[in-house]
Amino acid sequence: MHYSRITTAPSKTYSAASAVLLNELLKGIISVIVALRHIDQEMSQATPSYVSPLSEKETKILHQIPSPSFTSWFQASRLRNLSNQVLSPDCYKLAVPAILYVIQNNLQYVAATNLDVATFQVTYQMKILTTAFFSVLLLRKRLTKAKWASLVMLAIGVGIVQLQSTTAPAAQAHSASPPHNHGIIQKGSAQLRSDIPVAPSDSDAPLVSSERVMHPFRGFLAVTLACMTSGLAGVYFEFILKSSSGSSTPPPDLWVRNTQLSLFSLVPALIPVLFGGQAGVGFVERMMASFANFNGWAIGTVLTQTLGGLITAIVIRYSDNIMKGFATSLSIIISFLASVALFSYPITFAFLLGSSIVLAATYLYNAPSSPSTPPTRTTVAV
Ligand code: C5P
Repeated sequence: MHYSRITTAPSKTYSAASAVLLNELLKGIISVIVALRHIDQEMSQATPSYVSPLSEKETKILHQIPSPSFTSWFQASRLRNLSNQVLSPDCYKLAVPAILYVIQNNLQYVAATNLDVATFQVTYQMKILTTAFFSVLLLRKRLTKAKWASLVMLAIGVGIVQLQSTTAPAAQAHSASPPHNHGIIQKGSAQLRSDIPVAPSDSDAPLVSSERVMHPFRGFLAVTLACMTSGLAGVYFEFILKSSSGSSTPPPDLWVRNTQLSLFSLVPALIPVLFGGQAGVGFVERMMASFANFNGWAIGTVLTQTLGGLITAIVIRYSDNIMKGFATSLSIIISFLASVALFSYPITFAFLLGSSIVLAATYLYNAPSSPSTPPTRTTVAV
């Protein structure tokens, strides 16, 4: 995301609002497809037992009969079934996480545009703590002191790993080849990267290069707000997903919830695209302009965000938001180890220290509580 934003001059950079909209559209389409497949499976399982299955010969004959009306009825019935589920009376609840996620996804672009990768990723780990805070507040999870300590350790450990994993290759590249800066000048946070010159100034006055202006304070503010919205939206989504409506009907499928989430996301994601852009320019021109400059890196960023979002939904469904923090942290260690194997990155003391802290935190968080401490309550408050 950072690379896709900074390698071009601002006038040639793709629109972050359009990228967020594309992301929501893609997730919505995939969610509808998976939800329809689930409905298909449910419908086939719901075939009454007294209806004997068709023989192979009968199935062949049935397929040869041209029956467009039957097919369209069938399609209509699955779609009708899905739309009934999506437009359930409690669908409005998804509006809250949908708006929060759209804000968060836009803030991520602001942060990634104004901070270097290391600073962005390290500060973004604060979401581990905001998630725990909102889990306690909304889901009434009770975390023992040991669990809180392990969460703080996790944030520190992953911060150390990320700091060194982003600086290690830069340092190596620095020694192997002459320094370069891709035409970008940073300050403050850029001290983490050895290949980017740092301007001697301590104010937040923007630094201007031939291509880009970066505002570190704006980046920090964006990442802090993104951590708040990440924690709140994730926990709120978990709350909706896991709380039963109290009626006898089973709670909706994850993919129906995801479809609802995408539908509610479309409105806030569309607003900046529809009303942003150059004033005094026609609607069609503005639309064309907002989807201009989507090069391979921009499309890659959108696809990564889409895949990440869908995986996040599955993790929240089958585990929870706090465990998502641990999974992400362990994946950071694994990806660094893969870089060591594939690209001969050096294993540094900082990596060993950071990973040990992450592993100890994971162990501590998952260790059974002693009989004297109250058990962790994971019941969802309805
Ligand atoms: O940084 P964090 O893990 O909070 O990011 C969560 C991401 O997952 C957001 O981009 C959000 O849009 C996405 N998401 C999703 N579907 C869900 C839950 C989260 O696409 N059900």
